[in-house]
Amino acid sequence: MRLLIPNRAHVPATGLAKWYNLPFMSQEAIYPPSPEFVSKANVQGMEGYRALYDHAAEKPEEFWGELAEKEISWFEKWNHVFEWHPPFAKWFVGGKLNVSYNCIDRHLATPRKNKAAIIWEGEPGDQRVITYQELHRLVCRFANVLKSRGLKAGDRSIVYMPMIPELPIALLACARLGITHSVVFGGFSAEALKARIQDLDAAVVITADGGWRRGKEVKLKGAVDEAVAECPSVKDVIVVKRTGSEIKMQEGRDHWWHVLDEGMSEDCPAVPLDSEHPLYVLYTSGTTGKPKGILHTTAGYLLQTTMTMKWVFDLKEEDTYWCSADIGWVTGHSYIVYGPLSAGATTLMYEGAPDSPNYDRWWRIIAKYRVNIFYTSPTAIRALIRQGEQWPNGHDLTSLRLLGSVGEPINPAAWEWYHRVIGGGRCPIVDTWWQTETGSILIAPMPGAVPLKPGSGTLPMPGIVPEVIDLHGNPVGPGKEGFLILKRPWPSMIRTIWGDPDRYESQYWARVPGAYFTGDAARCDADGYYWVLGRVDDVMNVSGHRLSTMEVESALVRHDAVAEAAVVGKPDEITGQAVCCFVTLKKGDYDHGKLGIELRQWVAHEIGSFARPAEIRFTDALPKTRSGKIMRRLLREIVTSHTVAGDVTTLEDMSVVTNLAAQHDDD
Ligand code: WT7
Repeated sequence: MRLLIPNRAHVPATGLAKWYNLPFMSQEAIYPPSPEFVSKANVQGMEGYRALYDHAAEKPEEFWGELAEKEISWFEKWNHVFEWHPPFAKWFVGGKLNVSYNCIDRHLATPRKNKAAIIWEGEPGDQRVITYQELHRLVCRFANVLKSRGLKAGDRSIVYMPMIPELPIALLACARLGITHSVVFGGFSAEALKARIQDLDAAVVITADGGWRRGKEVKLKGAVDEAVAECPSVKDVIVVKRTGSEIKMQEGRDHWWHVLDEGMSEDCPAVPLDSEHPLYVLYTSGTTGKPKGILHTTAGYLLQTTMTMKWVFDLKEEDTYWCSADIGWVTGHSYIVYGPLSAGATTLMYEGAPDSPNYDRWWRIIAKYRVNIFYTSPTAIRALIRQGEQWPNGHDLTSLRLLGSVGEPINPAAWEWYHRVIGGGRCPIVDTWWQTETGSILIAPMPGAVPLKPGSGTLPMPGIVPEVIDLHGNPVGPGKEGFLILKRPWPSMIRTIWGDPDRYESQYWARVPGAYFTGDAARCDADGYYWVLGRVDDVMNVSGHRLSTMEVESALVRHDAVAEAAVVGKPDEITGQAVCCFVTLKKGDYDHGKLGIELRQWVAHEIGSFARPAEIRFTDALPKTRSGKIMRRLLREIVTSHTVAGDVTTLEDMSVVTNLAAQHDDD
């Protein structure tokens, strides 16, 4: 096998050379950091950024090795920094450490011991402030619970919970023992939950009766019962009592968290684990109907999430930091739990919806806890813009000093509003590009260094070498659109797809030898700034959540009435994209109105409520190539521009498209 040595990889001419060429070549509005922000920043000025970037580019082993020694606590030091047998990477080979120890124990010997680790607010208004010492006690107790059920390093757990403190406690307890966790977002259905439990052969499910959202209970335990009935691997279900609603508890299998936890010892030493021990698997949508279990391991993930907390969020000891994501997605893993706690931050968690009881709930929380750093999604910002400025204007948001955005491109209008209304014109906005697979932020500004351009993730993090290429793998050059690839492995990168190394290789590494294929289209401008434009594959981005067109299609065709389905993302002012389904029906008499509602509900049942289609369009036929492949590209054009201008030479029956386009005019 060919061994590629990453530090030989060359740094593209677009990028580095150009970055030295301030002032900017491009025409967009530019927001440099204020001298005041720069003077206090962790990384100061472009020189500070360049020094880090160049060091990582020129001597990656030395760069990451020094950081690993300084920023991470080890039980045993590694032998070498990395091994790269494309597409498989190992970082800090031979080292022994524990993520839970790094997120908790090591802070106890410092003045952080009584610092708030987690500030939590429930939707009904209940609160908890958990110090690092208290977190240590809670995590040790629950780790002892897991141990008492016979669980050990190498086993897998499923975590299906609302946004309550027991969720990060469960993750840290698993990490403490080396149990590989997999969080399933609470919005997923029993079906989706079952598929994930089965794929992992999980031994335990950690859940709750339910959680609160918009004043209503979101029930979870019923879905667990339905899923686990067909999952023989599950021996125990541990249930947090959150809402107190009535649930069924199956004798022998189901246990209340508070009952098992009572009287447990508060001493549970963290298990020394290999640098490459599997920390977690998180499922995300790919281009087929089957979600991919993205595997992250221990040392590299921990180091890069810790570093990006400091570089991108400019984290200071006294900051109160709030990421509004759900821990069910990677953003919550890396930037609510592991990154912030490893960096010794105070991380805020909120259980409920931004509009409950009113549209100012988030602004209330920021004012109440004097939040300094706030990280959210463009979809949320756009939804709140629609409600008007009176909601934020009623609150004192002057504690904020830095804002962040993640999940999808942020349109300049939303950026300007976020900057002016929430940030009072004084807070830099870090637009962070990354993916479930990348584990940590890869393209984003260091806010005290890099001037901002609204809509651009700006420059790559140290150690990250992106390039924009064409269909043949050649760089397209400045200002041109192409496919975004990453030319070197990085510490927090995906290690494999759980149980499917071939899919890992073909999905990410087969198109350009030795380079990681992101699936995104991007443009790198004359200043070396990256503009990520969106997915180039059959993956939709709905409210910053990844959803595969195929997954929704397979759900639809499982319904008795449906013959065929084709799904595309339709541009949406708030959610970025919305799920739009074209459906042909089996023979029979249908009430289209009723069936449309039923099918939307069906998809929510099969996948989860967040996947509920915005639109179902019934049609007599779908546009297909002569070989029978559905031409989704044409459907995308129909929902985007309502006409078809692209190449239709391979289309079998043109009348299908004319009918579909005409159908829209009748709406
Ligand atoms: C896809 C990854 C990373 C955590 C949340 C989503 C899109 C993400 C940005 C951004 C433009 C972005 C990309 C990417 N994306 N952040 N700042 N600007 N696009 O994680 O579900 O794995 O989705 O989200 O298309 O590939 P994910």
